[in-house]
Amino acid sequence: MNTTDKILVIGATGNIGRHLVPLLDEAGVPVRALTRDPSRAGLPGGVEAVRGDLTDPESVEKALHGVSSVFLLWPSFSAAGAEPVVEAIARHARRVVYVSAFSVRDGVDAAQNGVWGQIEELVRRSGVEWTFLRAGGFATNTLNWAEQIRSGGVVRAPYAGAARSLIHEADIAAVAFRALTEDGHAGRSHVLTGPEIVTQADQVRIIGEVIGRPLRFDEQPREEARAEMIAAWGDPATVDGALDHWASIVAEPEPVTTTVEEVTGRPARTFRAWAHDHAADFR
Ligand SMILES: NC(=O)c1ccc[n+]([C@@H]2O[C@H](COP(=O)([O-])OP(=O)(O)OC[C@H]3O[C@@H](n4cnc5c(N)ncnc54)[C@H](OP(=O)(O)O)[C@@H]3O)[C@@H](O)[C@H]2O)c1
Repeated sequence: MNTTDKILVIGATGNIGRHLVPLLDEAGVPVRALTRDPSRAGLPGGVEAVRGDLTDPESVEKALHGVSSVFLLWPSFSAAGAEPVVEAIARHARRVVYVSAFSVRDGVDAAQNGVWGQIEELVRRSGVEWTFLRAGGFATNTLNWAEQIRSGGVVRAPYAGAARSLIHEADIAAVAFRALTEDGHAGRSHVLTGPEIVTQADQVRIIGEVIGRPLRFDEQPREEARAEMIAAWGDPATVDGALDHWASIVAEPEPVTTTVEEVTGRPARTFRAWAHDHAADFR
């Protein structure tokens, strides 16, 4: 790419965006960061922050002027409202890197692939050059336990034995940086995971070791967890999908890929490394 080409980062203040924006900025790539509130975005000095809301396609369109590539995430469990946003992106940009999920399967109906499959389909149909980052579970999901850990030594959650290949958000950002700034990623779906399998009980143990306090996993019955998750996430189908997935990976762990290392040249960070990076969140 031409290094003067501007990149619009959607989700610039999120887990991935917080790593991606500095990577681009430090490499001298002009970045425009989309946020609903630039005054609270806390982005590196020199990065252009613009107000925009994905529920208001016109605001996104304004942010797209002069942009050649877009980092896209869709922070909702519903694809409603995504079509005009994706169409606006395709009118302005040549390239899109979209954060999808590794649950997406090729060759099945888009509706079976949840919101991620539906957004992938919209992006494909729009005619823009695309790369999909089909990420597994983010290690940041375990921040949901932070309050329980800070206030006591017990994490109450379902499926202690769910065997996960959680990924560090910095590794997703590192792959996104490559896909946005190098050629050779067009039309490719990168399946991204952490480097190892760690059960949920072991995730809790590792966090405890890192913060220097023994922690215990208290297995929560599925129905109790389901009620809490529906209250938090709002979408019963997504909650049931997540619970079914965790139940299935007790016996058959999630896959582990080497894509992070293949794309970036360095191995994906371990869950222990992630816990070190986030120790302050749990103390
Ligand atoms: N968690 C997982 O295990 C997992 C696995 C696979 C894929 N994913 C995907 O990863 C994405 C989340 O990435 P993340 O963790 O980096 O993000 P995040 O930390 O959840 O942050 C959400 C970002 O989206 C922005 N945002 C939210 N609503 C918006 C709106 N209406 N208009 C414009 N911007 C909006 C926020 O920006 P402002 O608040 O500054 O506006 C913020 O930067 C989701 O799309 C999810 O589907 C997650």
